[in-house]
Amino acid sequence: MTLSSDELQAAAKQHLWMHFTRMSSYNDGDIPVIVRGSGPYVYDDKGKRYLDGLAGLFVSMVGHGRTELAEAASKQASELAYFPLWSYAHPAAVQLAARLAELAPGDLNRVFFTTSGSEAVESAWKLAKAYFKRKGEPARYKVLSREYAYHGTSMGALAVCGLSAIKHDFEPLPPGGVRVPNTNFYRAPEFVADDEATFGVWAADEIERAILREDAESVAAVYLEPVQNSGGCFTPPPGYFQRVREICDKYGVLLVSDEVICAFGRLGYYFGAERYGYVPDIITFAKGVTSGYSPLGGMIVRDELMEPFLQGHATFLHGITFAGHPVSSAVALANLDVFERDNILGNVRSNEDGFRATLDKLNDLPIVGNVRGAGYFYGIELVKDKSTKETFNDDESERLLRGFLSHALFDAGLVCRADDRGDPVIQLAPPLICTQEHFDEMEQILRSVLTEAWAKL
Ligand SMILES: Cc1ncc(COP(=O)(O)O)c(C=O)c1O
Repeated sequence: MTLSSDELQAAAKQHLWMHFTRMSSYNDGDIPVIVRGSGPYVYDDKGKRYLDGLAGLFVSMVGHGRTELAEAASKQASELAYFPLWSYAHPAAVQLAARLAELAPGDLNRVFFTTSGSEAVESAWKLAKAYFKRKGEPARYKVLSREYAYHGTSMGALAVCGLSAIKHDFEPLPPGGVRVPNTNFYRAPEFVADDEATFGVWAADEIERAILREDAESVAAVYLEPVQNSGGCFTPPPGYFQRVREICDKYGVLLVSDEVICAFGRLGYYFGAERYGYVPDIITFAKGVTSGYSPLGGMIVRDELMEPFLQGHATFLHGITFAGHPVSSAVALANLDVFERDNILGNVRSNEDGFRATLDKLNDLPIVGNVRGAGYFYGIELVKDKSTKETFNDDESERLLRGFLSHALFDAGLVCRADDRGDPVIQLAPPLICTQEHFDEMEQILRSVLTEAWAKL
């Protein structure tokens, strides 16, 4: 049964509960309905084309409409649609685990699959707790993460988040979440604002101070994204991760690199840890592993973390029915084939400077305070006053971001994200197949809509 556009609107408004969405904002307007995609573009139910500047939700790495990925799914579903990883293996999950272990840095050789990023983040916390219990350090349960960082929505993952606004409705959360500063150099405290490396040492040392404050023997893990998404693409200052690694080693704390966004080419490498030259204890991933052609997530862990579970009666008492689903695993393998065949990482590495330079042109607009990011992952921070970096108050932010920018950018043909979970930013993370013509298209749309936004203020 195919519904007409009007029928889709009526049914969506009556039955569909959209995620993280203020449903009332569609009382007087249409819900956008996306019906197909091709390369870096998607099309709505009326045939209008949009440049997918966010790869869906940081997902569509190789772009839309790749029939070879659909065919991989179809072939696997015909052969073996489902079997669990509870006491059994199936070839697609085995091959994918081996391939991810090969790609991951250091001795991160064990892959525990999930279906989503939140489950990956939560699984890493559960593993850290269970591992330390078996190692004779049962008091370790706390997790450190950075201000504004987003790590997912299930209760455990939510407790890892550094965004208080999304937690209030669901408190009390599991205890143990502790916040440390993020690496937003644009808003660095004055005493370290002159030099990014000095700022980085301070930010890393704040992790040590938090570990000591909390009692080192109670801390299990530190969760960091290679480039922090929420707040607007905070890149790590030079030396930051090396210092964090030293601190984690000194206090026996696990370093979790949450790469749900940053893995699989977003930063020009299979893993962000590789770009920034550190070896974490656990990498969490999801999203880009399948480019969204089927859902999958997981964690890749160091050999040592699995050792206690390889002996006697020991079991990691944790599992998810659809984790490592055969169809998703087969799609992930086919996705990695596309990465190799089409030199997806090479495309990001050779074009990222052009992307950056194109977005940097927007710096001449009075509303653009800071353009930051790496690879194919950028945040544009909007300000009320460029010279003082003054940001918008709640009311202005509401009018600007929710009331105008989100809709205006979409209406102008660009999918991106206007986010005010920290200071107001526009986030861009397009499919990794984009080239200069797409960067120019983004810049032109942003220039015209941001100019209009400034005039409306
Ligand atoms: C860094 C990070 N971790 C975890 C998650 C949660 O992933 P999911 O939405 O697949 O549960 C996200 C989602 O955007 C994320 O960006």
